[in-house]
Amino acid sequence: MRAKIIGLGSHVPPKVVTNQDLSKFVDTNDEWIRTRTGIEERRLSDENTSTFDLAKVAAQKALERSKIDPEKLDLIIVGTTTPDTLFPSVSTMLQDHLKTPNAAAFDVSAACSGFNFALSTAAAYVESGSYKNILVVGADTLTKYLDWKDRGTCVLFGDGAGAVMLTSTEERDRGILASVLGAKGEGGKHLIMPGGGSRDPEEKNGRFITMNGKEVFKFAVWALEHSVTEVVKKAGMTLNNIDLLIPHQANIRIINHVVKKFNLPESKVYVNLQKYGNTSAASVPLALDEAFSDGKIKEGDVVVLAGFGAGLTYGANLIRW
Ligand code: COA
Repeated sequence: MRAKIIGLGSHVPPKVVTNQDLSKFVDTNDEWIRTRTGIEERRLSDENTSTFDLAKVAAQKALERSKIDPEKLDLIIVGTTTPDTLFPSVSTMLQDHLKTPNAAAFDVSAACSGFNFALSTAAAYVESGSYKNILVVGADTLTKYLDWKDRGTCVLFGDGAGAVMLTSTEERDRGILASVLGAKGEGGKHLIMPGGGSRDPEEKNGRFITMNGKEVFKFAVWALEHSVTEVVKKAGMTLNNIDLLIPHQANIRIINHVVKKFNLPESKVYVNLQKYGNTSAASVPLALDEAFSDGKIKEGDVVVLAGFGAGLTYGANLIRW
């Protein structure tokens, strides 16, 4: 049994903030941001819009496009580190909203790797025969946790959501063929949200993302190269078999490092970070939905999704479409 994708959806808030806009209130400029990151603009949710609000639109689209009866949904998994509340989870909010009474629901916390972790978990449930129809979502609103005076972080992130519907197939060579997940907890201190958890519920240490950009950059380059190499090997393939690589959309320089090393042509790598910045767990499913809508994925293609993030964590999934 394999898990294959039969519906996709994504959603971003309407408000566009350009590099130029940022330079009006923080000491930065369009040229620096473009050359160091590739980002040109990002989307920001307003104060009335939560992670769930973005996730529900993406999820609804994926569910509708799959044509699966909501009653037949077995499980909802949401990758997020910016849930509306510590509990209930975003996935249970979706379970209610989408009217899927027979679905179990839980969130996974793996920061920007969250969607790859959720997808791999869902695929394992399908392969084991435990569940048939699973909705997997990646959604985050990291801009709510940015220090707008810290130019080292506030220029990097944006908000968004992406979702896929999975169903089981008897075809052995279709769907998610291999997954690789990993963590390097010793590097956790390099990308951290100190406030708001049980160590500091009153957020005395602030509720802002703090990051050692250089250390995260080094890890990201290693993690992307390692996870793609390993997932391809696990599927019994080589890098030449990849039709489309969809990396986590954090920084074009991280992507270019790895693409150059792999000698992959540009046409085989999907990049949309110039429009959205780093949308954390939403980044990969948002790019996947856009790539699919753009006609960049056809039946039989080998698509590799790969991400890295706080934890530190990394993960990749190889899909035969
Ligand atoms: N605008 C203008 N100047 C900036 C700036 C900004 N937004 N951010 C930093 N700078 C300045 C620094 O203050 C520094 O100035 P100095 O030399 O006078 O001290 C200079 O630019 C170089 O800073 P540095 O931090 O060395 O830049 P960098 O080349 O490492 O790029 C990042 C910084 C954040 C873009 C880069 O480290 C990165 O992308 N890291 C990975 C981050 C990431 O992807 N995180 C999420 C992972 S899921």
